[in-house]
Amino acid sequence: MSYECIVTDVQGSGPLRIGVVTLSRPKQLNALNDTLMNELGAALKAFDADETIGCMVVTGSEKAFAAGADIGAMAGWNFMDVYKSDYITRNWETIRSVRKPVIAAVSGFALGGGCELAMMCDFIIAADSAKFGQPEIKLGIIPGAGGTQRLPRAIGKAKAMDMVLTGRMMDAAEAERAGLVSRVVPAAELLSVTLAAAQAICEFGGPSVMMAKEAVNRAYEGPLSEGIQFERRMFHALFATEDQKEGMDAFVNKRKPAFKHR
Ligand code: HXC
Repeated sequence: MSYECIVTDVQGSGPLRIGVVTLSRPKQLNALNDTLMNELGAALKAFDADETIGCMVVTGSEKAFAAGADIGAMAGWNFMDVYKSDYITRNWETIRSVRKPVIAAVSGFALGGGCELAMMCDFIIAADSAKFGQPEIKLGIIPGAGGTQRLPRAIGKAKAMDMVLTGRMMDAAEAERAGLVSRVVPAAELLSVTLAAAQAICEFGGPSVMMAKEAVNRAYEGPLSEGIQFERRMFHALFATEDQKEGMDAFVNKRKPAFKHR
């Protein structure tokens, strides 16, 4: 499949492999337009449906993961344009319906919609060059793809207010201290470290990986009592899988498990 604004690739070894999506509008620092978001959604859905793929990675260039929504495209729109066409909702959130893990590998700028896209992924691994920000306030708007909701959940109200109201950028070290990113690595190692994390995920049992993702997302989106209840049901359900028998038998018999992803 060939795309205009992204490049897709399959990496890794073993029965389950890694679907990699690289955002590619280099002249615009990967500014996110409709074509790119449609292609990203289609590529992720295709990987999600592919039985040979166990995990996905979304990345950009060395200079920019994505410098935000395409300002040139938005500049002429009025309220009726965005309201009637359901801007953002119509094609930005496909990634939320992806059931396998998606890791964001961020180098350079992740601003506005770019920061929001990274936060829609399951976790973020950042190069030491990464810079995060929600600078929409400088354009007379506010974050519109979840930034006012996911940023406070990730880094707390004080820092989120600071970022959203001043529009300042946060470097990778601050982002790691604040809990926005899971790891910071030297820029040259960003892809290899992210692919190694994805490869490790691919080697675990597929159903437990998907249920783990679903359960952690409940912590993010609902009350604690319901999250615990959901986790318990998923945990019990995994005792009906072949992978649980295999994983525990392998441990008891001191051998490597061979998961069948069922
Ligand atoms: C369109 C963009 C762009 C964007 C950069 N470019 N960001 N085009 N939309 N969001 C273009 C520039 O116009 C320029 O094109 C080229 O990319 C290189 O950018 P420069 O500014 O020359 O690079 P640099 O000086 O290194 O500065 C990098 C930067 C700056 C700090 C990232 O480009 C910048 O501030 N960009 C805007 C960031 C932003 O405001 N993002 C939020 C957008 S609103 P030319 O043709 O001149 O070479 C948003 C809404 C979210 O995301 C809500 C819904 C999703």
